[in-house]
Amino acid sequence: MKKVFAMLLAAAMSLSLAACGGQPANNPNPPANSGGSSSSTQTPTPPPADNKPGNDKLVVGFAQIGQESGWRDAETNDIQWYASRNIDTIELHFADAQQKQENQIKAIRSFIEMGVDVIAFPPVVETGWEAVLTECQEAGIPVILVDRGIDANTDDSLYTTMIASDHVWAGEQAAIAMNDLLGGSGVVVELEGTVGASAAVQRKQGFDEYMAKNCSSIEIVASQTGDFTRAQGKEVMESFLKTYNKIDGVFCHNDDMALGAIEAIKEAGLKPGEDIKIVGVDGVKGAFEAILAGEMNCTVECTPILANQIFDTAAKLKAGESVEKWVMSADEVYTADVVAGRAY
Ligand code: AHR
Repeated sequence: MKKVFAMLLAAAMSLSLAACGGQPANNPNPPANSGGSSSSTQTPTPPPADNKPGNDKLVVGFAQIGQESGWRDAETNDIQWYASRNIDTIELHFADAQQKQENQIKAIRSFIEMGVDVIAFPPVVETGWEAVLTECQEAGIPVILVDRGIDANTDDSLYTTMIASDHVWAGEQAAIAMNDLLGGSGVVVELEGTVGASAAVQRKQGFDEYMAKNCSSIEIVASQTGDFTRAQGKEVMESFLKTYNKIDGVFCHNDDMALGAIEAIKEAGLKPGEDIKIVGVDGVKGAFEAILAGEMNCTVECTPILANQIFDTAAKLKAGESVEKWVMSADEVYTADVVAGRAY
């Protein structure tokens, strides 16, 4: 098993390393949640940007959602580590909104006041951004949406670009994997991410629509939010197990909730991965370990390693260059076969 892990981690799982709060693929020594050239705060009140004449650094304000998952920690580490490695050219102002949209909005307003070059943030939910994005536009500050989008009815000229995975695709891939695992029939429950978050809305859309069109003998009997956290994933799975006599599969909108579900299934005296098939999204280290242990069956990757693209894009925007409206991450599907294949 040692050999499996060594090769697995070296060959294929750079993202999982990062996603467990470890080290991103090309990042040999990123400090955990440290700022380097960045200013890191738990409240969205970062200090003023050094935007006086003569500061030719790229000044970026990043309003992070919080710390709901290992995936989120990996994204934060990657961004802060990248900025710390490029201290001569990048000035990062980082705020942690502690899962609250109002805190993200406050942080964005403080970045506008500072006069940063570019603002980047993952919208915790899809709606409610018009006012603050209009303020960014009026201030002439380009906005990069990171890892999640905003509601399709919002005027898309209010942001400049989005760097993110295709969450609908992830949901479809999860449905294809679940259908294969169940041999085309069974009872499935769904653990949803944060209510109103594009990553949850779109993964659900992809999964449910694929199932409805292609899997008439698979029934989704329940679907409830676990807020992308391991603790709530476990709690909701416990209640599903009490309510339904037979559950054949669980689709979890992220791996942290899948790991929580595994705990609940074991405590109920069942075998995760065998009695109940488990498909997650993200590709965190814990999910790969669970797949190798036979306790989970598949994870659909969603890369958290976005810093390079974020800062490159921000530099282009500062230079007045145009960029694509959606810079889509290239993700893969990790079934048990793929994980085993990459391990040797
Ligand atoms: O927006 C990306 C999602 O947010 C990740 O899948 C999840 O783990 C995180 O909390």
